[in-house]
Amino acid sequence: MSHVEIGGLSGCVGETVTIQGWVTTTRSSGKVAFAVIRDGTGLLQCVLVKSQVAEEVWDRFQGLTQETSVAVTGEVRAEPRSPGGYELGLTGLEVIGESVDFPISPKEHGTAFLHEHRHLWLRSRRQVAIARVRHEVVQAIRDFLYERGFVCVDTPILTGAIGEEAGNLFSTEYFDLGSAYLAQTGQLYGEAAAAALGKIYCFGPTFRAEKSKTRRHLTEFWMVEPEVAWLDSDGNMELQEQFISYIVARALDRRAEELKELERDTSRLESVTAPFPRLSYTDAIAYLKSEGHDLEWGADIGGDEETVLASRYDRPVFVYNYPKAIKAFYMKENPDDPRTVLSNDCLAPEGYGEIIGGSQREDDYDRLLARIVDYGLDPDAYKWYLDLRKYGTFAHSGFGLGVERTVAWICGIPHIREAIAFPRQIHRLYP
Ligand code: 4AD
Ligand code: MG
Repeated sequence: MSHVEIGGLSGCVGETVTIQGWVTTTRSSGKVAFAVIRDGTGLLQCVLVKSQVAEEVWDRFQGLTQETSVAVTGEVRAEPRSPGGYELGLTGLEVIGESVDFPISPKEHGTAFLHEHRHLWLRSRRQVAIARVRHEVVQAIRDFLYERGFVCVDTPILTGAIGEEAGNLFSTEYFDLGSAYLAQTGQLYGEAAAAALGKIYCFGPTFRAEKSKTRRHLTEFWMVEPEVAWLDSDGNMELQEQFISYIVARALDRRAEELKELERDTSRLESVTAPFPRLSYTDAIAYLKSEGHDLEWGADIGGDEETVLASRYDRPVFVYNYPKAIKAFYMKENPDDPRTVLSNDCLAPEGYGEIIGGSQREDDYDRLLARIVDYGLDPDAYKWYLDLRKYGTFAHSGFGLGVERTVAWICGIPHIREAIAFPRQIHRLYP
């Protein structure tokens, strides 16, 4: 059946069309009735005048409830005061699917209730706006990398080696080969691909059995991980600041309407332009201590402390060269201070915390092997990874940007679980 989309009504003024969609709101004065229909491409106000339509159409209209699916027929009129700028003079109405007692009404619901009904909650205006911002962010990521000559390489989700840390692995029996782990990162495979293609990225879901129930953690999240041959840690941070600035500018440019729906203060995003400030880990600790925080050199910088550091700036900040002991085994030792590694985190402003983790990779075979052993990992599982240092080793760097944290920050929403359609958390597997 051919039908017109609400988003494509501009060419249809004066024509009689049929639109299929869902009823969002209705109101009636007894003589004139209104319904707002949405079809995923936009909102359309339908108007019907009792004296001008068949009695059964009027009666059927009176029975419409929230989220009933319908086909409405009528003449399209330009109406600047309507949402979307058009209005339908309704003459025909077909009910396709009833909707009795739709659970989510305009009244306030608790978060637990909304998440229990996530499959229906997705239809609400705020959730639609978030989904469209996420879509733009993902497209911006791909466009930025494509325009700069990066090749997309899809890395496996079932892996035989631990990518980040042993503490939060999901594992599963893998036939006769023992345990397989759900990927915490695609990076190690990305490094192999960078030796073939120079500049690559992988982009997919990653998994961490995070016991923490914070507003920044999911057990399944999407990460984009560029990996670049012949790039050092400084160049890596330059790439990151260009990348983030591009993504934010793109959202501001193309998703202004959605950000408005979300009541986002976009002036806070407009200042996100390269270069970003850079703070060494050592300076970050000194600053936190001077502000009365109780932590010593060597400690990890937690979420609250990240917020304190980031709140000093109007754009994201890099904290670089963390202590070796608190970072992953693959990061390159800092030749100027072997207690540290050539790493960086990128902290978003406004309390959103770490959105990127990146580093230059250890390219020395012996040092990398020693780190693998030190971390209690099985060198046999990393034989292929060590080969990259055995056959033409190369300086290389890369990073991982978490999509949900980035989307939550751009949308200004408090919790990252609304930044993905069906969030996975320690206590949630439904819907
Ligand atoms: O800092 P992480 O653990 O870095 C890596 O996985 C590297 N292999 C990346 C690389 O160098 N190729 O994670 C990178 C980003 C974090 O900054 C954060 O944005 C996101 O992934 N992230 C999470 N997002 C949601 N829930 C979680 N549990 C996350 N853990 C990390
Ligand atoms: Mg990290």
